[in-house]
Amino acid sequence: MGDASRPELEPHDGGREAGGIDSEMIRYYAARAGEYDDWYLRRGRNSHGSTSDAAWRADLEAAADWLGSRPFGGDIVELAAGTGWWSPLLARCGKLTILDAAPEPLSLARARLAAAGLDVEARVRDVWAEPDRSVNGLFCGFWISHVDRARLAEFLGIVARWLVPGGLFAFIDSRRDPESGARGHRPPENDVQMRRLDDGSTYQVRKIYYEPADLASALERAGFSDVDVSTTARFFVLGSARLR
Ligand SMILES: C[S@@+](CC[C@H](N)C(=O)[O-])C[C@H]1O[C@@H](n2cnc3c(N)ncnc32)[C@H](O)[C@@H]1O
Repeated sequence: MGDASRPELEPHDGGREAGGIDSEMIRYYAARAGEYDDWYLRRGRNSHGSTSDAAWRADLEAAADWLGSRPFGGDIVELAAGTGWWSPLLARCGKLTILDAAPEPLSLARARLAAAGLDVEARVRDVWAEPDRSVNGLFCGFWISHVDRARLAEFLGIVARWLVPGGLFAFIDSRRDPESGARGHRPPENDVQMRRLDDGSTYQVRKIYYEPADLASALERAGFSDVDVSTTARFFVLGSARLR
């Protein structure tokens, strides 16, 4: 990442260099950390008017209810955990470890969890690094839409290698909707979207609105059973599956 003050990431699998848009995404989320939750809370540039914001809040509540009803337990890993919006919910189900490539959102996640009195291990780690142990459950929020189409199978393979047989995988992600991001952001073109922060700085991120049926097929091909990929009314995709 070219900044000596940042902790080194654990090594990638296969010696793949995280250059280009992948490292730009990490820099983006590092810089966005302090304003990230404005997106969940529809604050400032993320508000799209009362009707749209009410629909967003209803979908967010539906997603939280859905995640809360997943039978997580035991050792749980959250990949690309960011500011830890979903982490307290997971931490109440088992022994949670949260991982992210950027220390800035992770420290906000740590503070959120500490404020809730929840004891969670938080570490800087690349999602593409090989698992260092096997766990009972794995969650990622709004990460799969950042995974290159050409690497989706590779990512699901990593998820599978994190899990014990029968382990539970769940994810929440974005559906395509013009009012799901900050006002003024254009839709992705060729899977790449320009994002602007409050200070006016801009970054490119990969953003892919995978179809639920495509995610379900990819999960089945990666060795998962009990595959269930659904959507909330408007904004989110919800997926869960068990490793065979
Ligand atoms: C859209 S945010 C999602 C945050 C959180 N999971 C949520 O649901 O609110 C994507 C997260 O992925 C992290 N990230 C980006 N590239 C990564 C990588 N190669 N390895 C691990 N985390 C990465 C970013 O730092 C950011 O926190």
